[in-house]
Amino acid sequence: MSFTVAIDGPAAAGKGTISKAVAAHFGFAHLDTGLLYRAVAKRVLGGEDAVAAARDLKAGDLDAPGLRTPEVAQVASRVAVEAEVRSSLVDFQRAFAARSGGAVLDGRDIGTVICPEAAVKLFVTASPEVRAERRYRELTEAGHKTDFANVLDDVKARDERDRSRATAPLKPADDALTIDTSNMSIDEAVAAAIGAVQARR
Ligand code: C5P
Repeated sequence: MSFTVAIDGPAAAGKGTISKAVAAHFGFAHLDTGLLYRAVAKRVLGGEDAVAAARDLKAGDLDAPGLRTPEVAQVASRVAVEAEVRSSLVDFQRAFAARSGGAVLDGRDIGTVICPEAAVKLFVTASPEVRAERRYRELTEAGHKTDFANVLDDVKARDERDRSRATAPLKPADDALTIDTSNMSIDEAVAAAIGAVQARR
């Protein structure tokens, strides 16, 4: 039987870390759906049309190098505004969610649009400053040269685009549990998420 955990929230709130930990704890598969939009963005940067790239997306594209750059993230949030890009990616995500053995999907619209019937819905968030600081640390540690003000501007611009778009905007599902990680350690946030999933099993 399928058991889906939907984890949504803004950039750098801790979704990725929490999703991986929940998946590992319960032995579920994990899909970072941001990678779909990033893979489309990468192909757009290479000159392809966004809708064509989304329709033609293959699972292998999600492992392409260079998907985690700030430039790709910004283009991803632009292609993600297009309704046709989004609709082209729905089947892939739903098929992943339906696999037996359980699945965790993280993104922006999993609990609201992709898997409205998910067994567990979490909305993981944190203040823009805390999220920018985490992203800044990640980027610096990965060897990217950047400054904090730029990262904060990027985070805010992406939030604004994700929240204000007409199709599948970023917002908590009515029945989502919100976890604000601003003042939580990683371990505390992971424990809260695992507890929420355990309660529904
Ligand atoms: O989560 P990540 O930062 O990798 O996502 C990149 C961009 O892809 C987001 O800013 C958002 O615009 C878009 N996205 C989306 N819906 C999802 C996942 C990501 O619109 N489910």
